[in-house]
Amino acid sequence: MTRDSSPPPSRGGPAGRVRSEPGQKAPRRSTPRTTATSRTSSASTARPRPRRAPAGHGSTPSLDTGVLVTGGASGIGRATALAVAEAGRPVAVWDVDGDGAIETAELCARAHGVRTHAAAVDVVDSAAHGPALADALVALGSVGGFVHAAGISGPMSVDFLDEAAWDPVFDVNVRAAALLLRALLDPFRAAGPGSAAVLVSSIEGLFGSAMLTAYCSSKAAVLGLMRSVAHRYALDGFRVNAVCPGAVATPMLVPAFELPGFRERIEERTPLGRIADPAEIARPIRFLLSEEASFVTGTHLVIDGGMTAVTAI
Ligand SMILES: NC(=O)c1ccc[n+]([C@@H]2O[C@H](COP(=O)([O-])OP(=O)(O)OC[C@H]3O[C@@H](n4cnc5c(N)ncnc54)[C@H](O)[C@@H]3O)[C@@H](O)[C@H]2O)c1
Repeated sequence: MTRDSSPPPSRGGPAGRVRSEPGQKAPRRSTPRTTATSRTSSASTARPRPRRAPAGHGSTPSLDTGVLVTGGASGIGRATALAVAEAGRPVAVWDVDGDGAIETAELCARAHGVRTHAAAVDVVDSAAHGPALADALVALGSVGGFVHAAGISGPMSVDFLDEAAWDPVFDVNVRAAALLLRALLDPFRAAGPGSAAVLVSSIEGLFGSAMLTAYCSSKAAVLGLMRSVAHRYALDGFRVNAVCPGAVATPMLVPAFELPGFRERIEERTPLGRIADPAEIARPIRFLLSEEASFVTGTHLVIDGGMTAVTAI
């Protein structure tokens, strides 16, 4: 299932696209979910580094390329889609929750008048990446930004390590991000050297919670993936970073909030004394995607109200 809503483009794009005025509810077209199995080509050979003028002289250019957000139906992903739309960038929202993805895309189009694209995509299904990316490119005109916010967790201590539960955590949190970073090389090249990606890790990728063995391991792996791909992407002038949020008020934390005293414990251990709003993670992600962060790559930004400065969870 894909949906596009397309206000007038700020620069050239494919003809025949569905359009609407900024701020208006955009006309939508339905595209049946494609089952093609072809893959986006991968580049294994290094290319000459593109020459870029150093930033810092005059005003920082603002980017108008599209941004793909996975996990965009909810929480940090939805807030990120809204934040980049607020900056005027077109947004593609993918989520296994297709209705939620459409809702986010409509919120972005209505609030900020940008072109949007929504698709029901299970990011684990790599065969769906190519067709959905092709749809996003048609709808947005370009994809020069990527945020992997799709993620799952689940309690699991090493004593009760469950193979069947381990794999999905790595498939969604790590493997899907790696495959999408591969698929995005060509769209990023077409979009230009300002292209950038942000992977959503966690403070659990820096520290360890005994009851979150698979999750902690996957979020540490996300940081390794980010560093490796940042090295490779730099050959093309692209940047890759990660964010490590602390506790954020999203549906993912609902089960934890039901544990007696959990919220109070987190608030006590957080110097800023509260749980984050998803928008407080989305704005730093938007910064990392932007030209304001033109020399920032291969690193992670901890966004946790100071928690890890003083203690682990
Ligand atoms: N909430 C927190 O406290 C917190 C803290 C640190 C890191 N994170 C990370 O932030 C990211 C976003 O989580 P959130 O807190 O917004 O949770 P959330 O549950 O609100 O959002 C996660 C989204 O990912 C989607 N998703 C899950 N599996 C998918 C799949 N296979 N394909 C496509 N979409 C899929 C879900 O449908 C959901 O919309 C996750 O990677 C999470 O690990 C969250």
